[in-house]
Amino acid sequence: MPLLSPLNLDSPPKPDAEYIRSMFNRMARRYDAFTLLTGFGQAARWRRRALSTILPGMRVLDLGCGTGDMALDAWKRVGPSGEVVGLDFSERMLAMAAEKARARQGAGAGRLRWVQARAEDLPDCVQASGARPFDAVVSGFVLRNLYADIAPILDGVRGSLRPGGHIRFLDLTEPRHGFLKALFRGYLSGPVALYGAGLFGRDYPIPYLPNSASRFFKADEFVRALDRAGFTQIHAQPFFFGAVTLYHALTPS
Ligand SMILES: C[S@@+](CC[C@H](N)C(=O)[O-])C[C@H]1O[C@@H](n2cnc3c(N)ncnc32)[C@H](O)[C@@H]1O
Repeated sequence: MPLLSPLNLDSPPKPDAEYIRSMFNRMARRYDAFTLLTGFGQAARWRRRALSTILPGMRVLDLGCGTGDMALDAWKRVGPSGEVVGLDFSERMLAMAAEKARARQGAGAGRLRWVQARAEDLPDCVQASGARPFDAVVSGFVLRNLYADIAPILDGVRGSLRPGGHIRFLDLTEPRHGFLKALFRGYLSGPVALYGAGLFGRDYPIPYLPNSASRFFKADEFVRALDRAGFTQIHAQPFFFGAVTLYHALTPS
């Protein structure tokens, strides 16, 4: 077999929802191993930083919860009187999340729900009638995948939150210039691509990750998008030389 046969160099210029959903479905089983390898073991720490504002009793939505690590940590933090909803459109990522939740049952925590839905359909897809709005919407490494429809999605996020509720969004951010930008792209196109091809074979479309990071807003641009969507007290905190950003913002009280 030729050495290069497992490499998948296809990626549509503007992947649609179905392309992205089926890609995550195919990657679900080994997604956690991929994140561990590619994030220098730091992803769990960044997710915990994102959850530092989550307090007992809160209702929290994890947007694009994937295999559920952030939702499960939030579940621990909200305690018995709180609730966490994990939303994702990939049924296989959700199945992995539900499997992990079953393994952690009995911690005496509050309610936890997994919802298969599109971020584009917020707030109606998660809001059971009569339920109070969310205190917080969190998300880890999802925004890049939502680039095509980010404005209506941000409207839906705002509509899911109570007045004075907050967001904590974490994502990769391509540095704007020079050496750091070259290093960032080189890392995604080199070592990350090799890990991806090794773990997923042809199911890993090599150009997708660097392209999605490159297409997505720089930190200051996303801050402006949050401002346009009506959020206040917006703050962007860089981690890891700016390669990862944590966005924090409130809805007006
Ligand atoms: C890179 S994974 C991140 C998973 C998890 N949040 C984490 O911290 O590891 C992106 C997730 O977003 C989901 N996703 C992407 N676009 C979506 C959309 N439009 N609606 C719902 N889920 C979406 C994917 O299915 C995938 O599980």
